[in-house]
Amino acid sequence: MNVIEALYARHSTRAFLADPVEKDKLLAVSEAAVRAPSWANSQPWEVFVATGATLDNIKRAYLEKYEAKEAPAPETPLPTEWPQASKDRRKLLDDGIKQTCGEAAKQFGPLNRGMFNAPAVAFVCMDKRLSPWSLYDLGAYAQCLMLAALEKGLGAIPAITLVLYPDVLRRELRIPDALKVVIGIAIGYIDKRHDINKFVSGRIPFAETTHFLD
Ligand SMILES: Cc1cc2nc3c(=O)[nH]c(=O)nc-3n(C[C@H](O)[C@H](O)[C@H](O)COP(=O)(O)O)c2cc1C
Repeated sequence: MNVIEALYARHSTRAFLADPVEKDKLLAVSEAAVRAPSWANSQPWEVFVATGATLDNIKRAYLEKYEAKEAPAPETPLPTEWPQASKDRRKLLDDGIKQTCGEAAKQFGPLNRGMFNAPAVAFVCMDKRLSPWSLYDLGAYAQCLMLAALEKGLGAIPAITLVLYPDVLRRELRIPDALKVVIGIAIGYIDKRHDINKFVSGRIPFAETTHFLD
């Protein structure tokens, strides 16, 4: 698969098989991901990969918080208002899942709350003193990680729902207070029989967002 093919092939996986991911694959994917570009080669990503009993503990603690209806505490704030263009594009996801996945669309929330049944989650953090430029670097890192996962036959999804309770992550993963927990990326083998994974999100035509000026 060449790079362009990989870009078209990657899409978010929202239901994973319970099978664990081999350690050597997780290591290979993580090693490739740090090839991402970064401002002044600052390589700001600090990544905590949870698997096994550690991830089980995190999932359990999250479910307890959901049951207690505890308010999420995202360290990266949500927008106070989505611009209309973003709302319109978001409909491609919301409507598309309903149209493509049938009954499985109702699993969107529960799958998010159960961390998509993923056997591995990479929690991507950075030093709180860094600027938004470094968030750009973390985004580049995330895409590298997900494309490397694809190459190894794995699915992935970046999700804010994975980082709604950073206090749990700090406790279970011993993440220092000096780091901001930015995003989680669930990784694992794709449950191809789950209808939620039939959905592949669309894009508005690139010419509407990419402007060429001679
Ligand atoms: C920063 C970020 C946060 C996201 N958070 C969630 C999430 O909490 N739950 C979810 O189901 N998908 C989440 N996604 C996945 C997006 O919905 C998905 O990337 C988008 O719809 C495009 O689809 P694709 O990844 O399949 O191309 C997130 C993606 C990004 C980049």
